[in-house]
Amino acid sequence: MKNVVKLLSFNTFIPVFYPALMLPIRPWRTKAIKMLDFKSGDRVIVPGVGSGHDLSALPKDVRVDGVDISDVMLGIGKLKLKLFGNDKNVTLNKMDAEKLFFDDNTFDKAILSLFLTVVFDPKKAFAEIVRVVKPGGQILIFDHLFRKGDIPGIVTKPVDAVLSYGFASVARVLDDIIEGHPVTVEKIVKGDPVGFVKGFLLVKK
Ligand SMILES: C[S@@+](CC[C@H](N)C(=O)[O-])C[C@H]1O[C@@H](n2cnc3c(N)ncnc32)[C@H](O)[C@@H]1O
Repeated sequence: MKNVVKLLSFNTFIPVFYPALMLPIRPWRTKAIKMLDFKSGDRVIVPGVGSGHDLSALPKDVRVDGVDISDVMLGIGKLKLKLFGNDKNVTLNKMDAEKLFFDDNTFDKAILSLFLTVVFDPKKAFAEIVRVVKPGGQILIFDHLFRKGDIPGIVTKPVDAVLSYGFASVARVLDDIIEGHPVTVEKIVKGDPVGFVKGFLLVKK
């Protein structure tokens, strides 16, 4: 996270209000995840898995590795898995997503939900994802990212200066993050009615 304030937020007050924040956006998340074409036995990586809001939307016959650096978010995620008996096919790892301990071309799918706007260096984290996903693998990004040329700078810059330090950036651009990587953007779906949050389906060439 490279930022004490952010690490502290994700280990203290954010986990408390996070479930309430996530509940209303659940249908948008589910719609985005539905773009993935799951096959039985697929290996799925979820960087910045947090307390596991993506996990219940995944089929039971895939093998999931969640990665996060917040002990508290991971702890809540592990507790939820145990409570709902959903822990057999999921491993939650304490790991920096900017430096993944997985071999190249390991995963069939990656799910990056509300992660690229939080991680300190989104380009570095995305490069790691591209490295560990197999050629032909799908990468789903569910996030409030802009496309190049979309940002209303006057509004977002001051808000971003405050929010990005302790929580999430509201001014990151998908095209800047994925630039130079062997990926294509295959499909985009709107989350909220104005399309601030979107689902982006990418495929690694
Ligand atoms: C806004 S939460 C999203 C959690 C979950 N993906 C969701 O959609 O509810 C962002 C998560 O990214 C994690 N995170 C931030 N930087 C990270 C890094 N370098 N490596 C792994 N996880 C990171 C935070 O701890 C936090 O749990």
